[in-house]
Amino acid sequence: MQSHGSSLEALTRWVDEVARLTQPDEVVWCDGSDAEYAGLVAHMLKTGDLHPLNATTHPRSYLHRSHPSDVARVEHLTLVCTAEREDAGPNNHWMAPADAHAKIDALFDGAMRGRTMYVIPYCMGPIDSPISRCGVEITDSPYVVANMRIMTRMGAPALARIEREGRFVKGLHSIGDLDPERRFIMHFPDELTIKSIGSGYGGNALLGKKCHALRIASHQARHEGWLAEHMLIVGIENPQGDKYYIAAAFPSACGKTNLAMLIPTEGYRRAGWKVWTVGDDICWMTPGADGRLWAINPEAGYFGVAPGTGADTNPSALATLGHDAIFTNVAVTADGQPWWEGLGEGTPVTDWQGRPYDPANGPAAHPNSRFTVSARQCPSWAPESEDAQGVPLSAIVFGGRRPSLVPLVFEAKDWAHGVLVGAAMGSETTAAATGAVGVLRRDSMAMKPFCGYNFADYFAHWLSFDRPGMKLPRIFHVNWFRKDADGRFMWPGYGENMRVLDWMIRRVEGLARGHETPIGTVPAPGELNVEGLDVPPATLDELTRVDVDGWIDELNAIGTYLDGYGERMPERLKAERLRVSRALDAAQ
Ligand code: GDP
Ligand code: PGA
Ligand code: MN
Ligand code: MN
Repeated sequence: MQSHGSSLEALTRWVDEVARLTQPDEVVWCDGSDAEYAGLVAHMLKTGDLHPLNATTHPRSYLHRSHPSDVARVEHLTLVCTAEREDAGPNNHWMAPADAHAKIDALFDGAMRGRTMYVIPYCMGPIDSPISRCGVEITDSPYVVANMRIMTRMGAPALARIEREGRFVKGLHSIGDLDPERRFIMHFPDELTIKSIGSGYGGNALLGKKCHALRIASHQARHEGWLAEHMLIVGIENPQGDKYYIAAAFPSACGKTNLAMLIPTEGYRRAGWKVWTVGDDICWMTPGADGRLWAINPEAGYFGVAPGTGADTNPSALATLGHDAIFTNVAVTADGQPWWEGLGEGTPVTDWQGRPYDPANGPAAHPNSRFTVSARQCPSWAPESEDAQGVPLSAIVFGGRRPSLVPLVFEAKDWAHGVLVGAAMGSETTAAATGAVGVLRRDSMAMKPFCGYNFADYFAHWLSFDRPGMKLPRIFHVNWFRKDADGRFMWPGYGENMRVLDWMIRRVEGLARGHETPIGTVPAPGELNVEGLDVPPATLDELTRVDVDGWIDELNAIGTYLDGYGERMPERLKAERLRVSRALDAAQ
């Protein structure tokens, strides 16, 4: 890493090196222009990388069908390569850097023969923000270039910033031969380097996103005193015009994009509440001079889950998708419109693999089918997404898919308790990563697949923000996914989640007293606004009840989980767990 300098020498040297290794037919430096994007699209329509969609209903929108074995992140093939295994931690797969380079460079040898190599300078975050960071991705996939154009500030302005700063994250990507046996996503945090081969899927191939903005950035953040998190950022404006910003960490496919684009239910809308979208997946937060945490969304677009996105659940997302979108692995209707389960209208005739739709083959759209679209197209896009200093956070929310035990909402006692609540997060696995779906696992801060270093050190870093002079956000935990005995969701979710955000804001303002329990503060009877809500009172009681016996078991399981990190686990966190355990015992 160079800390100063004003030339692109290091970059051109690296590009030459990569070209010598991978042997592309041609090297193209991307400028990020409209003409370049149009040219790439035209090229991909010819090669079959993209398929046209109905140009009347979906102007300039296209479908990409990936290889059927390449539809999600691959956590077992994702490695963090630090000199010491312990620094990557039990939460990561690890390989010694020299071995890792040797292994993956052998796969890159000649990998781009017959292909074009694209050089993509990009900036994560507003182009003029001191919090933003630049990178360069080299790839042989035009699909990756088109997606990076939507997801990041890509091209000439990023290159100019790199030239000024002389430092950037190096990301090398090739789709290789798409053989899962020759697929790896490797991170070298000490070298600010990423190498990814054998997959074209977003999380594995759009290196600015998970690889840079989370795994590499979390490592940098630890050393530089900030946080790189798997969080949405949403702005909530009350009828008086005050804006509150909330960041929320939910695991992949657990509701971040939906909460970020929430449309308040009618009662709130009529009263004058508004919701603004700052980010839907990644949040970089830095302590400001005022002691508050200030957050930016390093991304410029959404790479969202298609299934379940409908006019009744997320009308904002549908409006965002009206034009200039790329759809990956969705189904198609007879008149060429994209289709997925939960869209609510239309009939699929072609499934995500391009076969005539037959329910016997499973869902028409892949459960992890995605859309890529510019954030600015969202009707609730917050103009302050471009603010160089970011937005100040009033609250941080953790949550996951918990079919039982975990209440709709509770608030942590203080920061240290909140860190425990985040560390203890559990959630059912989803189709966003390959492997079994619906298995409960610990996913601390929703960062299990994304933290670029040992979780024990990560929790210590989180705890370190609790120091004099800080005005830290309040920490909450939510669960939209409680199920009844018949397996139905007990809470209507989506727009109705506004009621929970409203309670949080009243807590922040000291306007809701809450009901203290051993696990934290839940809404006191009558505090949650239930006007017009179609949930039986008994269900609401159940959703806000704390099952002491169940939580005693949960805290024991959390203890076992934390102990798995051995000596490195901060004493402060272990003490916090013990405190909650004892409070539960006393309540029994
Ligand atoms: P993300 O991957 O974390 O951004 O999650 P999304 O917002 O894309 O949602 C993933 C899936 O969960 C989609 O199928 C949504 O329809 C569903 N979902 C999101 N929010 C809710 C909610 O409040 N309740 C329920 N039951 N499902 C939700
Ligand atoms: P998600 O983003 O969190 O919106 O699902 C992609 C991912 O995490 O793989
Ligand atoms: Mn994500
Ligand atoms: Mn999302």
